Amino acid sequence: MSPVFLESERLWYRAPERADLPFLTAALQNPPVRRNLLIGRYPFNEDGEAKWFERVSAAPAGDNQTDVFMIFGIKGSDAQLGSTGLHRISMLHRNAEWGLFIGRPQEWGKGYGREVARTMLRYAFHTLNLHRVHLRVNADNERGAKAYRAAGFVDEGRHRQAVFVDGKYVDVLLMGALRDEWR
Ligand SMILES: CC(C)(COP(=O)(O)OP(=O)(O)OC[C@H]1O[C@@H](n2cnc3c(N)ncnc32)[C@H](O)[C@@H]1OP(=O)(O)O)[C@@H](O)C(=O)NCCC(=O)NCCS
Repeated sequence: MSPVFLESERLWYRAPERADLPFLTAALQNPPVRRNLLIGRYPFNEDGEAKWFERVSAAPAGDNQTDVFMIFGIKGSDAQLGSTGLHRISMLHRNAEWGLFIGRPQEWGKGYGREVARTMLRYAFHTLNLHRVHLRVNADNERGAKAYRAAGFVDEGRHRQAVFVDGKYVDVLLMGALRDEWR
């Protein structure tokens, strides 16, 4: 297993492993989890998920890596809780898009979402020297929007009727955090 790369109060974070593929394949297709994600609209199997894994398993980079993925779990257990990542990292503009899912719905609403958000903002600003991190969240994903605001993201706008969820169009909120504003 990869070593723990980051820690927060209650959680550990490490690089994805081949052993995570069964968890990711199941969690990302669990209806309450995939409802608010961009992926999971089409069925996929572990072979498909393995292709994602091969793509993100880049050799260690000294600089200019454009995507960072991490698996996280609760301290005291090796079980995976979810996955988080910074995507399309621009070293020119010093920004990235952040994403998160917690794959065990029974653990939602316990503050883990905001804990991951704070940890990834700290990593983005203090380790990767980014200036800005932004995210997109479906407007009816109140749990997510509240967690992100609590972690320091601010509302920046909305794409109206931008995604189709459970038979209707839903707005997408745009949120961002700037290093200078962030504590
Ligand atoms: C969205 C997600 C990451 C949030 O993580 P979380 O650990 O559940 O979030 P937190 O516990 O930190 O915060 C949840 C907030 O929503 C509130 N909440 C809980 N249940 C709620 C509900 N049914 N409706 C609205 N708000 C709710 C909580 O009270 C808390 O707000 P508060 O601190 O103001 O009381 C997680 O629920 C998840 O992974 N969902 C499925 C996938 C997903 O939506 N990913 C995000 C895509 S942008």
